[in-house]
Amino acid sequence: MFQLRTLDDLTATELDQLLSDASSLLVKKDSEPLKQKSVANLFFEPSTRTKSSFEMAEHQLGLHVLPFDVEHSSVQKGETLYDTVKTLEAIGCDAVVIRHPEKGYYKSLEGISIPIINAGDGAGDHPTQSLLDLLTIQQEFLFFQHLNVVIIGDVRHSRVARTNARMLRKLGARVSFAGPPEWMDDDITCGNVISMDEAVETADVIMLLRIQVERHEEKGDWTKENYHETYGLTEEREARMKSGAIIMHPAPFNRGVEIADPVVECERSRIFKQITNGVAVRKAVLKRALSLKEETV
Ligand code: CP
Repeated sequence: MFQLRTLDDLTATELDQLLSDASSLLVKKDSEPLKQKSVANLFFEPSTRTKSSFEMAEHQLGLHVLPFDVEHSSVQKGETLYDTVKTLEAIGCDAVVIRHPEKGYYKSLEGISIPIINAGDGAGDHPTQSLLDLLTIQQEFLFFQHLNVVIIGDVRHSRVARTNARMLRKLGARVSFAGPPEWMDDDITCGNVISMDEAVETADVIMLLRIQVERHEEKGDWTKENYHETYGLTEEREARMKSGAIIMHPAPFNRGVEIADPVVECERSRIFKQITNGVAVRKAVLKRALSLKEETV
């Protein structure tokens, strides 16, 4: 059964196939919608892009989406994640998409026999975000080998940084990091931390991160203005980037903090392209999850 808990679940061939399926889905309409299949989106953390693009992908695939709202569900009466998912499975749901604040939440779902698609697990992983980021980079450069990717900002608390660093290294890119020392994490950076000047002047891809205050244990000393001046992608820094270099951000972004307002939609920015790619990637993942299940029954 196809599962997408982390991208480590995929072989290199499967990863390649998903990116290629997503590319095709960007240009062609589906000939065979996955009718009669149903899916539920369980979001235990706020989301705009991931939730909406899964919903759009599900709609475009002709799937039936079971409405599920954590705030109005029996989660409020103490029902566990396992029991919630087991219940949806018993009702006849064919797959579940889950975002949850607990890193590795899916380990508690080992007894579930429908596909679990991870839409983000705390500071753990964000596999579909990484897939759409990889697709965006592939569209731009065609290859990953020797590309200089610099991830800037609150690396320690970022599931996007964690998944992307691992996958990009696997695919042959050089991954470096810049940002406040207290938000660097050796497990992710492997000690590869560079200055903002070096980041801006050497990167082929700059990947910015939001300050993830919701995962901070203590309030830090950074003001928005200080952070922007020290680690933000200002217009002056953007002007020093290499010719052909691009800017990415998983979003939501905070204008005037990690990125200057005019840089959000500048010529180098691929931020909204990433969001568009998200729908195709999620369609490819859902098709894979639901079609494979069909073959096993
Ligand atoms: N990039 C991302 O995961 O955005 P949302 O939190 O809005 O889903």
